[in-house]
Amino acid sequence: MNRRNENQPQAADQFEVELHWKSAAEMLPGRSYLLQTAASTTTATITKLKYKIEAGKNLHIAINTLHANETGVCNISLSDEIAFDSYQDNPSSGCFTLLDKTTQALVADGKIHHSLRRATNIHWQALAIDKQTRAALKKQRPCVLWLTGLSAAGKSTIANLIEKNLVSTGKHSYLLDGDNVRHGLNRDLGFTDADRVENIRRVAETAKLMVDAGLIVITSFISPFRSEREMARGLFEEQEFIEVFIDAPLTICEQRDPKGLYKKARRGQIKNFTGFDSPYEKPENPELHIDTAALSAQEAADQIISYLTGSRND
Ligand code: ADX
Repeated sequence: MNRRNENQPQAADQFEVELHWKSAAEMLPGRSYLLQTAASTTTATITKLKYKIEAGKNLHIAINTLHANETGVCNISLSDEIAFDSYQDNPSSGCFTLLDKTTQALVADGKIHHSLRRATNIHWQALAIDKQTRAALKKQRPCVLWLTGLSAAGKSTIANLIEKNLVSTGKHSYLLDGDNVRHGLNRDLGFTDADRVENIRRVAETAKLMVDAGLIVITSFISPFRSEREMARGLFEEQEFIEVFIDAPLTICEQRDPKGLYKKARRGQIKNFTGFDSPYEKPENPELHIDTAALSAQEAADQIISYLTGSRND
């Protein structure tokens, strides 16, 4: 084997890195950040936080997040390959910064340890049958209707009515619902910010596979953070991602309280409850804004269906 070749600069899209966290907001594994090197800017996601390093001590401490002024070692995945050196070999081309995607504020300083072997050994496999062929077979335009809103805003009820309507007109759909997905694929996740980020990341990737299979997908998740809804949008082609804000004021959701969760949260029996001690970031520019305080669930579903059939000529 030629060792010299192995040491030449390479390109990769997955790395083990050391991060010195600077932001007052904690690190959220699964969230997309901007990664900037001297030569390039790309999107990076922390796929695994391995351990925290205590300054001056030779200790590796297992943790789930990093706070300001903490240093940790983690794996990251980039949206594009970058040419790199390890920090040890070349400090100027082996370092980078992480920025918040929305505000561009500095989030962390980073040093590249090494690329991950899996990054160079996994390639994209071209498939003979593509999304267009599957969609043509079903005579429909695949897309995702991404419903977002508070618990009890009406997402699941409206999503069910949309799906009934689609099926009655011969469309092939699939409904991914928060409570149901949390019984299976996402049963290991709770309601911390980090778990919600991972919940939405997995759901978005699942929806992408289903859209690729030619389906009309409806997702019904609180999906409280703008950043993850934007990440989800970024996985799809133009016009495939339809963000639908199911808007109901917190007071109305609390009055409805079909599962008794608001009552429990008021009594302090549920931590990190959306709208109380966990934030909901309203969509700024959704394709559809549905005011469920003014519309019945059926009227809301009809409005969404007419958007699908009207603006997209489905
Ligand atoms: S999300 O924030 O990660 O998108 P998701 O939509 O999957 O949440 O799950 C929300 C559902 O879980 C709610 O409709 C509610 O039934 C239930 N739930 C249980 N605990 C909480 C909590 N702390 N905050 C919000 N919803 C909760």
